[in-house]
Formats: sequence, C-alpha cells, structure tokens
Amino acid sequence: MQVIARVPAKINLVLSVGPVRSDGFHELATVFHAVSLYDEVSAVHADAVTVHVTGPYADRTPTDESNLAVRAARALARRARLRSGALLRVHKEIPVAAGLAGGSADAAGALLTCDRLWGLRMPESRLSSVAAGLGSDVPFALTGGTAVGTGRGERLRPVPVGAELHWVVATADGGLSTPDVYRRLDDLRSDRKVPAPTVSGELLAALQSADLDALAGLLHNDLQEAALALRPSLKDTLRAGEEHGALAGLVSGSGPTCVFLARDGAAAGALAVDLAASGTCARAVAVTGHAPVGT
Ligand code: C5P
Repeated sequence: MQVIARVPAKINLVLSVGPVRSDGFHELATVFHAVSLYDEVSAVHADAVTVHVTGPYADRTPTDESNLAVRAARALARRARLRSGALLRVHKEIPVAAGLAGGSADAAGALLTCDRLWGLRMPESRLSSVAAGLGSDVPFALTGGTAVGTGRGERLRPVPVGAELHWVVATADGGLSTPDVYRRLDDLRSDRKVPAPTVSGELLAALQSADLDALAGLLHNDLQEAALALRPSLKDTLRAGEEHGALAGLVSGSGPTCVFLARDGAAAGALAVDLAASGTCARAVAVTGHAPVGT
C-alpha cells in the first residue's frame, strides 16, 4: 500500500510580529495563504522511518534525523504508541529555507500519509497538536487554504477568499535562516516598544470581496526590513516586480523569496517572464491561491 499527499507552499499576506515571549518565540498575527507550488510526499510500509528526496532541491534537503518529514512520522508514531515504520518519498518542488514553509509542508505530508498508512484516523485536533510540536507553520500546512494564524502561528482560523488570486513567486539562490531573520528584527527595533501583533479587518474584508487594489495596499510583512538588511539584493527583486506591473510585492515569511500580486493569470504569466529575465531572482513562477492539500 502506498499513500500520497500533495502539500502546498505558503506565503504570508500579513505577518505581524509582536514581542518575544518567555519561550523565545514571537507572538504573531499572520494570514497564511497556500499557493499552487507543491511538494509530493508518499509513504509505504517499512521497518523504520526513512526518507528519500528527489526533485530540484533534493541536494539541499537533509535525509537524516533532522529531516522534518522523518521527525513528523516519528512524532506521530510516538503519539499513537506505535512501533511502525515508513519509507517516505518526498519530491521537492518548494525551495528550501525560502520563507515558503517547504519543510513544514513535508512534515504535514508525512503526518497525513502515515496517519492513513498506519490506519490511525487521528482526529484533526490531535494531528494538529503533533504538527505544532514540529514547527510553527506545520498546523497550517495540514489544512492549506487561507487562515489567520495567532500564537506562534499554530492557532488557526480559516478565512474566506472571494476569488482565485494570482501571484508570482520569485526565489533567490541560497536561503535565509529564520532564527537569524527574527534576531535581526529584534536588533532593528530594540529601541522601540513592540505592540501586540494584529491582522486588520480591512485586509480580511479585501480578501473576502477579492478587492485586489485594496488588498495590494494592505499586504505587509514585519520581517521584511530584517530580511532586506540581511540580503540587500532583494530590494532589486522588489523594484523589478513593481517596474514590471505587479500590484504589490513583499518578502515571503522570513525570505528570501519575494511574492507579487498580479491582476489575473495572464498578468502573472507575463510578470514571471519579465522577472526571470530581469536577473534579480533565480527563478520566477506564476501560481494561484488558495491551494488545497491533496490526499
Ligand atoms: O517554529 P519554527 O521551527 O518554524 O521556528 C523557527 C525559528 O523561527 C524559531 O526557532 C524562532 O527563532 C523563530 N520564530 C519565532 N517566533 C515564531 C515563529 C518562529 O521567533 N512565532
């Protein structure tokens, strides 16, 4: 028996970063939005949990104990008090350390496939609590779609989106370390009192009515300033997107990927071609949101 899941990358339409908590994480208010750039995870029975990775980013993905899909399958077996194993195959199309939660997507894929392979049928809330133990973005990666995330990002509330949205995802060569980006943000605002994080009602209304012009003005990422400080060349990517007609552009999560909102599919396709030709990014692809998780 083989079980397969198709798990999407995410972007953050808003990422509001509050003060550091006593556990070292930052309090967040974010809007997660899954886009049609997928990793595929499959699982078959085996004696132990191992992973085999293929695809364009395979050489940058660890296959040892630190692989998030391996950690997820083992955490699930522990939670279910099982000794079961699985051979996981991950086909990676989502770039690594890119701010697109590719590792979290693989972890979610491993949870969903092993849950079925091992016949667990674990309730969503328990699966989500195993996911939260693996990383802040993993609970959202189990659900896909669009959701407000609070807490560390693990407390989720789905939000309606009035129409399919069109984006261009522009990836960079080399990743950025998420902890480094958060640390740089703390340094940059060490002289300020950091307010509680928020997602505005206006943004949720713009999503619901698919008002692209309003949405373009409301996209915001508090980590962007820190990501640009660590990787100044991203300013060129953002400028190129604007010059080539994007409605808005911003850094995705902790970067270095930049994402751009386009008016429709044709505009996104043209923008992807122009951005790729601009020499300011490694690769640019047109995607849509919000994307479902497929099992
Ligand atoms: O939860 P995850 O493993 O994805 O977090 C990676 C790192 O990002 C954490 O170790 C922490 O440095 C930073 N982080 C944070 N606050 C959050 C989420 C992540 O400081 N809410």
